[in-house]
Amino acid sequence: MPAANLTAQVVFATITGNNEAVADILVEELENQGVSVKKSEISQTEPEELKDYDLAFLVPYTYDEGSLPDEGLDYFDDLADLDLSNLVYGLAGSGDIFYGDLYCLALDAFDEQLQKTDAHRAGELVRINLYPTAEDQYILAKLVDQALAKVQQ
Ligand SMILES: Cc1cc2nc3c(=O)[nH]c(=O)nc-3n(C[C@H](O)[C@H](O)[C@H](O)COP(=O)(O)O)c2cc1C
Repeated sequence: MPAANLTAQVVFATITGNNEAVADILVEELENQGVSVKKSEISQTEPEELKDYDLAFLVPYTYDEGSLPDEGLDYFDDLADLDLSNLVYGLAGSGDIFYGDLYCLALDAFDEQLQKTDAHRAGELVRINLYPTAEDQYILAKLVDQALAKVQQ
């Protein structure tokens, strides 16, 4: 399927803007490939919406002791009940390496939850330290390429 016929949703959570910057890079990379993209803040989004898309990218921040975004807890809980076996997803997020073992743990939690839906993960979890750099942009572009390759298999 040409990428121009594909649709993607990019769902983000942010307090200070870093994860929205990550989401914006993903949106730009997807649009550059001709994908129709909807960017959506997590508390304004229902997980059921994922059924309408070929691709999804979730971009959560990590907070106290490796916690999920508070405003995304309903989304997180409801996600597990869905059958998303037609969905390819990628996970990327900004945390802070200062937190050591708790670095970007929300990504691992979302990955576990999405595995329950039978959705298919593209690439590795992309952990970004604070504001995304040019190198992060390159890694995010690669994630988009991996997701497009997987959905077109
Ligand atoms: C109180 C507090 C707790 C945090 N806890 C974690 C954490 O456990 N793991 C992590 O990777 N980052 C943690 N962070 C760092 C944020 O995830 C990081 O600053 C991130 O870039 C914020 O994203 P945002 O700008 O999209 O809100 C914490 C930050 C604050 C202020």
